[in-house]
Amino acid sequence: MTWLITGAAGTIGCQVAADLAARGIPLRLLDQCHPDTGLSAGAEFVQADLRDQAAIEKASAGCSAVIHLAGVTHEGPFAAMVEHNITGTHHVLEAARRQRVPRVVLASSHHVTGMTPVSASAAPLAPDSFYAVSKVAAESLGHLYAHKTGVQVIAIRIGSYRSHPSEPRHRVTWLSPRDATALLYAAATRTLSDRFLIVYGTSSNAESWWPRTGWDVLGYRPVDDAGQYSAIGSLTDRFMGGAFADHDLPG
Ligand SMILES: NC(=O)c1ccc[n+]([C@@H]2O[C@H](COP(=O)([O-])OP(=O)(O)OC[C@H]3O[C@@H](n4cnc5c(N)ncnc54)[C@H](O)[C@@H]3O)[C@@H](O)[C@H]2O)c1
Repeated sequence: MTWLITGAAGTIGCQVAADLAARGIPLRLLDQCHPDTGLSAGAEFVQADLRDQAAIEKASAGCSAVIHLAGVTHEGPFAAMVEHNITGTHHVLEAARRQRVPRVVLASSHHVTGMTPVSASAAPLAPDSFYAVSKVAAESLGHLYAHKTGVQVIAIRIGSYRSHPSEPRHRVTWLSPRDATALLYAAATRTLSDRFLIVYGTSSNAESWWPRTGWDVLGYRPVDDAGQYSAIGSLTDRFMGGAFADHDLPG
């Protein structure tokens, strides 16, 4: 059955759509912008805004999974986070409930724990930005819908999605494109006893700040390790969120 990918014109969405289409999964791709790269073979494109609840519900009809990647992906005014990321995620989950989509995968972020010092041995919720607060809210909405409706929700706290690690912090945070596709595929398909799951989304980096809890439940076995790359320098970050944690709030 068809999968809906929101944010399909974005960095992760374009690559994941191409990878999943190559696996023969029928895709409906949603974004406010048309993908620059064109559409994967057989994929259907829906130009829609997350803020348009009716459009999101229509796009969800007949889908067996939603991979929700769309939203504001950098720090910005709080109102934009509420509209695109919090209300937008609510629309996705509500559409899944009404259209009886059994599985929703939410793109969260490691920035939800971004104010945690890099020396800490645990990473409690400590958002480093308005953006991160919107991801905490998205996770909470996922938890609520998972427990009160028929939708199973997996929230993935994505590290740093890059083709190659290019900054010192990527030794810890890197998520390679092929591992990202493997993780999203597992999150959309794996039979789970839990209704709700949060996992960190990184490659199998030798250095790690975060627990790998849930990887085994999903059957996620990443193949890449940022340690395979040399000369990306020494870590200077004070906080897990890197520059997000150091910047003042907007406004
Ligand atoms: N790239 C990373 O390293 C990283 C790290 C942590 C979390 N994430 C999360 O993963 C997801 C995908 O990230 P990305 O790097 O591909 O982001 P991106 O900015 O490249 O793509 C986001 C897409 O969402 C679309 N979009 C934004 N607002 C929308 C709206 N209101 N309606 C419809 N479409 C809208 C944009 O047009 C864009 O194509 C995001 O939710 C992001 O917060 C990414």
